[in-house]
This record gives sequence, structure tokens and C-alpha cells, in this order.
Amino acid sequence: MQMGQFFRAFFAVGIIGGAFVALAEAKSGWAPDPQTGRALLTENCASCHAVDATGTSPVPEAVAFHEISARYPVKALEEALAEGIMVGHDGVQQMPEFRFNAIQIGDIIAYLESIQDE
Ligand code: HEC
Repeated sequence: MQMGQFFRAFFAVGIIGGAFVALAEAKSGWAPDPQTGRALLTENCASCHAVDATGTSPVPEAVAFHEISARYPVKALEEALAEGIMVGHDGVQQMPEFRFNAIQIGDIIAYLESIQDE
């Protein structure tokens, strides 16, 4: 991954997630760890979503994580991850609600940025 991507993942648009992440970083000297992000996604999401840089999801309706940026910027997920992602429509297998802390979000976004198709 390039440094440019890294810095956009922390500081740019995601107002809530970005502020949390910047704060956590300022306090601790912490830097996001994509491998921790990957582990969190594997633990919580892999039963339905493809977590790796290639492959299709076990649940066809669930977006493969390497294809997220084809739909919207990965950073748009920061806020959703902080507030609790909750999607699902009638008749579709309901996605459970998740909530992550600032450090976890930074790690997850760093990982997702690293696996996007384009
Ligand atoms: C039980 C299965 C399941 C699990 C576990 C799951 N998801 Fe999903 N997810 C889905 C399905 C099904 C959809 C398709 C949208 C829907 O439900 O309407 C989806 C959609 C999404 C979307 C796309 C939302 C949109 O607006 O396009 C994102 C992003 C997402 N999930 C992230 C995650 C993350 C991050 C995790 C783990 C923290 C996770 N999901 C865990 C089933 C799951």
C-alpha cells in the first residue's frame, strides 16, 4: 500500500471515524494495522462476505470486500462502522449489526483500502 492511500484513510472525509482515528493516533502514536483489520473482518464478516483480495462471497447478496470501491469510497464506511452497520431488506438474509471502536475502524479501513480491485 502507498502512503498516500494510508493518509487519506485516516484524515480525510470520514468525519466521525476520521476524527476518532486521528485522536487515537495523536494519543498513542498508534498506526493502523491492516492485518488486524483483516482478522476482525475474518472473524465477524467472513461467514457471508469475501474478505480476501479476490474471490466471491459465501452469501451471494453480500458484497465481496475487494469490490466495495466499485460501489462507493471505502472511507464512506468509517462512519457506518462507528455507528453500527445495519443493512438488509425484506426477504434478504439480514445482516447483523456491528459496532467497532476507532482503532478497529482504522485497521479495517486500512485493510479494505489495500485490497480494492482498482
Ligand atoms: C449473516 C451474514 C452477514 C454478515 C456476518 C455480514 N454481512 Fe455485510 N451484508 C450481508 C448481506 C446479505 C448484505 C447485502 C445487503 C442486504 O442485506 O440487504 C450485506 C451488505 C454489506 C455491505 C454493503 C452495504 C451497502 O449499502 O451496499 C457492507 C459494506 C457490509 N455488508 C459490510 C459488512 C461488514 C464490515 C461485516 C462484518 C463486520 C459484515 N458485513 C458482516 C450479510 C452479512
